Amino acid sequence: MDLNNYWNLQPSESKKWQENRYKRFGFVWGDEPGPTAKMAAQLFAEKGCKNILVAGCGYGRECVYFHEKGFKVTGIDLSEEGIKLAKHWSQEKNLTIDFYVDSVLDMKHPHDGYDAVFSHKVFHQFRYEDRKKMMEECHQVLKDNGILFLSDLSVHDAEFGIGVEIEKNMFERPHRPYRPVYFLSNDHLAEFDGFDMEEVKPFSYLESHPGESTEHEHHLLIIVGRKKL
Ligand SMILES: C[S@@+](CC[C@H](N)C(=O)[O-])C[C@H]1O[C@@H](n2cnc3c(N)ncnc32)[C@H](O)[C@@H]1O
Repeated sequence: MDLNNYWNLQPSESKKWQENRYKRFGFVWGDEPGPTAKMAAQLFAEKGCKNILVAGCGYGRECVYFHEKGFKVTGIDLSEEGIKLAKHWSQEKNLTIDFYVDSVLDMKHPHDGYDAVFSHKVFHQFRYEDRKKMMEECHQVLKDNGILFLSDLSVHDAEFGIGVEIEKNMFERPHRPYRPVYFLSNDHLAEFDGFDMEEVKPFSYLESHPGESTEHEHHLLIIVGRKKL
């Protein structure tokens, strides 16, 4: 496998796939918040966080939930289709949420700093150098002592090990070209060295993608960190 060529093509191919997916299926995971949003909202409230960034918000299901829980919410995603759906949804419900097409790898949207960053199932899409970049960007947009809440697939997920291992714990799967998946493990958390770890814990849940797959279980790792000064 020519990895140089692969990584040249991967970002644009992956984006194309994601845009088509939102165009075709709309609310891919339904209109309920993701499985870890409730836990995150409780934690953010306990820690007095008010101003939340959802990094990789898709069509906004977590943003809508955090807004309903009383937080000031900003959502960013690379997908124009995702942000279009998110804006339409929040306008329909008359909610004040700021949505931007922006990359978690190079954040350009205007802001005054966040008390917390939430990100669910975004990190796994990136190779090591980009995961480091994403964490540096999250670190930069957080206020002093800000909280990172990240949930994503772990090495205990059923899909771990399927396909070609293109980087440590990252697989290119034959049925999803250019959609590699990185699986989190307690042993490899170097990307988070800008954060003091407050909690690292496993979590599992059932999910289905209407029109795409039947119900299946996912195994995640939840990471809660506090910005190091
Ligand atoms: C599996 S979806 C999760 C979306 C959302 N967190 C949820 O649970 O509904 C992954 C999202 O990451 C977004 N994404 C991929 N690369 C990105 C980047 N560089 N910056 C921001 N978002 C990105 C995709 O467009 C997609 O919406």
